[in-house]
Amino acid sequence: MSFFVKKKTNLKNTSNKDFGISKESKRIKIRRKGMSGKIIRMNRIFKADGKTVIVALDHGQFQGPIVGIADIQTTLKNVKCGQADAVILNPGAIQDNAQILGGNLAVLCRITGASTNYSPSFDYHRLISSVRNAISLGADGVVVMGFIGGSGENQSLELLGRIAEDCSVAGVPLIAEMLPQSPDHFTDPKFISLGVRVAYELGADIVKVYYTDKDSFSQVINSAKIPVVIAGGPKGKDALETAKEAIELGAKGVAYGRNVFQAEDQADYVRKLVELVHS
Ligand code: 5RP
Repeated sequence: MSFFVKKKTNLKNTSNKDFGISKESKRIKIRRKGMSGKIIRMNRIFKADGKTVIVALDHGQFQGPIVGIADIQTTLKNVKCGQADAVILNPGAIQDNAQILGGNLAVLCRITGASTNYSPSFDYHRLISSVRNAISLGADGVVVMGFIGGSGENQSLELLGRIAEDCSVAGVPLIAEMLPQSPDHFTDPKFISLGVRVAYELGADIVKVYYTDKDSFSQVINSAKIPVVIAGGPKGKDALETAKEAIELGAKGVAYGRNVFQAEDQADYVRKLVELVHS
């Protein structure tokens, strides 16, 4: 049974196909119609075991042509070869690499940003695209940044809520990347739990956060009933161990960037993640 269906219905004895609502009222049938887009796309992002290996390749929008993504086409081919489940890309990169995407590789389009590493206000992300454009590019989901704390919080969370509305109408899963504004709080369980809950309350379907630690991560997972995937951070030797620990504690996958594309063998690193997440 797919993760999304399992998480989103409390109805007993339901099959994966009718979600137990075929005998329900017209009102519920109408709701089912509106939900099918999200369900189908969530089933592309998450494999049958309810887990996913996402590779984030969207750094160019913020950091430029850093090591590992300067030649994004080759990186994409390697990531596909390693059998990742999904990639996060900016609109331009999707457009330019369409021939490599699709099939078993879901596409998640980042639609906020407009703030580079040189920006004095990096937490003031704005809309750089739209749910509508993401759909026309072939995306299976959209990724939006949500900042916790700091002066950009109101604007960022308002944007997240409004995009959630667009996603509901369009049937497109919303992945909220919840980031504490201050690096001091990047792995602080209080901030991360809050971020997970805020993402849920505003209508996100998936939340991407930094891993905290062994003692607190279950609490993070229990902060909301949406799948949590962990973000990677800078390349580090413990990233595979961290992924393993997070999965054991309830994470539904990883959304790793630099640890994958800055690995010596990108495809091999993805294979290792796949084995670890899906085993
Ligand atoms: C890029 C991002 C990435 O999507 C995310 O943080 C994962 O990448 P990494 O594992 O390299 O941290 O937000 O700016």
